[in-house]
Amino acid sequence: MGTAVVIGANRGIGLGFTRQYLEAGYEVVATYRDETKLGAETTLEEDTKESLEHLQQVYMQKLTLHKLEITDDESIAEFAKTIAKVDLLILNAGIKGYPVSGTRPPNHTTQHLSDAFRVNTQAPDAIIRSFYPLLAQSANACVVYMSSLVGQTADNDSGGYHPYRITKAATNALIWNWSIELMLDWKRRNPQNLTKTPCAIAICPGWVRTDMGGQNARLNITESVSAMIKVIDYVRETKKSNGLYLYNGDVAEKYSEPEVLKEIISAKEQQKFDV
Ligand SMILES: NC(=O)c1ccc[n+]([C@@H]2O[C@H](COP(=O)([O-])OP(=O)(O)OC[C@H]3O[C@@H](n4cnc5c(N)ncnc54)[C@H](OP(=O)(O)O)[C@@H]3O)[C@@H](O)[C@H]2O)c1
Repeated sequence: MGTAVVIGANRGIGLGFTRQYLEAGYEVVATYRDETKLGAETTLEEDTKESLEHLQQVYMQKLTLHKLEITDDESIAEFAKTIAKVDLLILNAGIKGYPVSGTRPPNHTTQHLSDAFRVNTQAPDAIIRSFYPLLAQSANACVVYMSSLVGQTADNDSGGYHPYRITKAATNALIWNWSIELMLDWKRRNPQNLTKTPCAIAICPGWVRTDMGGQNARLNITESVSAMIKVIDYVRETKKSNGLYLYNGDVAEKYSEPEVLKEIISAKEQQKFDV
C-alpha cells in the first residue's frame, strides 16, 4: 500500500490515522514525544480505545515508532534521514496556543503567539524542508496538514483564539506554497509523467472529541479520520490540491489554478481516455 509518516501520533487524531493506515495495510512511521505515555489510551469511538503501545504489539514490523520533538530542527533533519520511502506525510501535531479559552479581550502574550507559530507553522515547514528531497521524487506522495476552519478569515465571525487562528491561517498558505513547489519540481523532472505528481493539502478534521477538541465535539476520531482518508485519496487521484479541504470533502476555500496544475489535471483527464 505504501508508507505513511504520522507526526504527533501518540494520542488524538494522529493515533486515529496511525491505526486506520495500519488497518489498510500501510507501513506506518509514527512519532511521539514521551515514551512513558505510549501506553496511554485514546478513545477513538464510543467503545474503542487505542494506544501506540498496543498498536506496536499488534502490527510489530509494520509500525515504527520514532521519538520527535517538532520544535527541534536538528532532530527533524536526523529523523528524515531515517526514512527511505514516503507516500503520505501527515503533519498532525499542533497546539491551541492560547492560555484560556473565551477570555475577552484575549489574554495571550507574545510568547503564546510565538510558541503557537513555532509548533503550528514553523515546525511543519521544517519537516517538509527535511523531507523535500524524498517527497520531490515520490510519485503520488501527499503531504497532509491538520488545519482548521478557524484559520479562515472569511469564516471568522466571532474573533478570539488569536494564536491558533493566525498560525493555522499562515500554514494554509505555507502548504499551498509547498504544493506549487512540488508540482513545478515534478514537472521539470518528469514532464512525461504528470499524472503522478506529488502534492500537499491542508484539511480541517471537523470538531473532534480529543484532548484539544473536548468531549462536546461533534465527531469521534474514527469518523473524522475515515472521512479525511477518503478526501486524501480523492486529492491524490485528482491532484486538486488547490483548496482548504474539510473532512467531508467540501472545499472551504478554493485557491487559484496555476498553469502547472491545469496541465496536471489535463494529463489526468487524458489518462482516463487512454485506459
Ligand atoms: N480536535 C479538533 O476538534 C481539531 C479541530 C481542528 C483542527 N485540529 C488539529 O488536528 C491536529 C490534532 O489535533 P488533536 O485534537 O488530535 O490534538 P491533541 O489530542 O491535543 O494531540 C496533539 C498531538 O500533537 C502533539 N504535539 C504537540 N506539540 C508537539 C511538539 N512540540 N512536538 C511533537 N508533538 C507535539 C501531541 O504530543 P504530546 O502528547 O507529546 O503532547 C499530540 O500527539 C492539531 O493540529 C489540531 O490543531 C483538531
